Amino acid sequence: MKIAISPTVLLLANLFFSDASAFVERTWPEAFTLADRTVAQMTTAEKLGVIRGRGQFNSRCVGDTNAVPRLGIPSICLQDGPAGVRLTKGVTGFPTGINAASTFSRRLMKARGVALGEEFRGKGVNVHLGPGLDIMRNPKMGRAWESAGPDPYLTGEFAYETTLGIQSTGVQACAKHAIANNQEHWRYGLSADIPDERTSREIYWYPFERAVEAGLTSVMCAYNRVNQTSSCRNEDVIGNTGILRKDLGFKGWIVSDWGATHDSATDHANAGMDMEQPGDWILIGGGVYSPGLEWALNDGSVTNSTVNQLVSRILAGFYKLGQETGFPPPNFNVQRADGPLNLNVVVRTPAHVALSKEIASASAVLLKTTTSGSSATVTRGLPVDIAKVKTVAIIGQDARMPKRDCDPMGKCNEGTMSVGWGSGTNSLEFIIPPEDAIKSFVGTKAAITTSTTMDINNAVNAARGKDVAFVFVNAMSGELLFYDVVHGNQGDRNDLALWWKGGSLVEAVAAVNPNTIVVVHSVGPVSLTWSNHANITGIIYAGAPGEQTGPSIVDVLFGEYNPRGRLPFSIADTEAAYGTSIVYGMDGFPTITYSEKLLLDYRYMDSINHTPRFPFGFGLSYTTFAYSAFSVAQTSSNGGIVISFTVHNSGGRTGTEIPQVYLGYPASAGEPKMVLRGFEEVLDLGAGASRAVSIAIARRELSIFQSGKGWVRPTGTFTVYVGASIKDIRLQGTIAL
Ligand code: BGC
Repeated sequence: MKIAISPTVLLLANLFFSDASAFVERTWPEAFTLADRTVAQMTTAEKLGVIRGRGQFNSRCVGDTNAVPRLGIPSICLQDGPAGVRLTKGVTGFPTGINAASTFSRRLMKARGVALGEEFRGKGVNVHLGPGLDIMRNPKMGRAWESAGPDPYLTGEFAYETTLGIQSTGVQACAKHAIANNQEHWRYGLSADIPDERTSREIYWYPFERAVEAGLTSVMCAYNRVNQTSSCRNEDVIGNTGILRKDLGFKGWIVSDWGATHDSATDHANAGMDMEQPGDWILIGGGVYSPGLEWALNDGSVTNSTVNQLVSRILAGFYKLGQETGFPPPNFNVQRADGPLNLNVVVRTPAHVALSKEIASASAVLLKTTTSGSSATVTRGLPVDIAKVKTVAIIGQDARMPKRDCDPMGKCNEGTMSVGWGSGTNSLEFIIPPEDAIKSFVGTKAAITTSTTMDINNAVNAARGKDVAFVFVNAMSGELLFYDVVHGNQGDRNDLALWWKGGSLVEAVAAVNPNTIVVVHSVGPVSLTWSNHANITGIIYAGAPGEQTGPSIVDVLFGEYNPRGRLPFSIADTEAAYGTSIVYGMDGFPTITYSEKLLLDYRYMDSINHTPRFPFGFGLSYTTFAYSAFSVAQTSSNGGIVISFTVHNSGGRTGTEIPQVYLGYPASAGEPKMVLRGFEEVLDLGAGASRAVSIAIARRELSIFQSGKGWVRPTGTFTVYVGASIKDIRLQGTIAL
């Protein structure tokens, strides 16, 4: 039976539940004062109830805690995922983390965080299990789309803005997964061995460092081991004298990934793991705090003061964001997603939908157009002028509506790919696929033929003779859950090929249609070896854009939105160009040594003088930009530098440019040849207009990490490169520091 709820009730519920205006953020000392006062009044049973989850089949959320009503502590609700509230209805399917990264826009990253926070709050979720901050160590890494790619600086900016945005609504962010959670195969026990502190801090911890600077209240420790010791009991990772708490200054609480407690309660509690989720044993591990923590308290191997500290940190996060007043209880229940107890309060708002569409368009990367920069007489390439087109073909299974009720983990791998699978998936309830959006835009202005079955002959027949053929292709990946295999892939992708023979489909269509325009929906780099084909007149890499996939791509294809997205990774033809691999088959949990150290993605490619097909930071526009008037100077106050230049729109229409700053360190520093250290969004620059841009780089971002010394700014001559991608440097200069 479904309960019918009138739209007015939903609207009122929505207004009531999402109102974050009343909340006041506290400082950490204020929050700890309140937390300690509460802890002092709690019984041991009450404390243990807050430390451990209520069990996978008892929680209303993917994880929750026991309430202490007499002290005003509700059951704390923790919920996935990083691209929208999971396992409930009435929510927005936001663009993924990797697409947020593709915007190279702090403004949009933050706005996305705010909108996510509003929806989580509206659903009564205290803790948003995100942002995902796992570095894309290898392009096939199954969950890389949940976070922001291989570059630590870009991921750091994403971490900072997303955390600020989420927590500005009074919802706690839970950055995950600490640390070195970089492949799905063997994730429950592999050891990621990071050879030196410098690699660990500059690459893997740096995004967490930025999230901590944004006031982050919680962190999830990972399933994997780090340097042989399990993350959730690893003193170096989570201990009071470890990296997160001592070096990064993190004050909040740490929760286990679900079932990531592989050792004894004593080991985990004494190492500093504050909360265990989901609280019971879930096949892969877990359930060590219950009843293990009572035993450990009884035999003295864990002290009362340790337990008090764990509870205090959890409650401090809660008080820091004022969650004790006005925070709604959960109004959904993951145990019965469609059941009668699920109120399905609608938290999706027109503003969130509009923002999702904007981010999806802003993250679409124009890789190729034969007409880039020209305007009046476009007959081939992008943008498509619908007034000049009489016949349109829509091709590829990636264009059509996905199956939406296939699996709670979102393994809907038929139809368009808008998000990967696993706990990071979002809601497909309101998805608008490209096919529907194109049909609704074109209307009766042109005749449309579709072929969305993946039958190549059928596709060729549909494309032949049409004024334009849009071909949609994809590749997907996700989270390893037990032994789930999706289209032959177990979390991590098997290779860089497009799924469903997408490459052959593109080539077959291009063989018969001289105006073939390809849209790639993918979770990460894919091999695009056909990109130079003369009949392929446009290519857009659209990533995993969320529910507004169709409308957002229509705006880009037909010129309503001038593309400005940038690749947050390089696209090379082969995996060998990336210098790392995924460890698949083994007899037991492997040790994976991160011997590449700082050399991921473009940093590795530069080191072997490899030029990828499409470089990091690359993305075209329907207009063109010129750069001039470069200068670089030291800033007097903070030991940083400031780079100034002018961007001029030298083309025919308004557009947004993303200038990027790469640094070349003095050779003695031992850094990769060029590293991203700044970018800016030069928003909506009119045709013919110019704008002065200045990009500041603070002392820490000029520094390298030295063991025992921390961040040290090297002495010597730095080269400063300003460009439209790492391979399109327009201005450069040097500065001696
Ligand atoms: C994932 C986490 C997720 C948790 C709860 C785990 O399997 O690794 O990222 O937050 O499940 O769903």
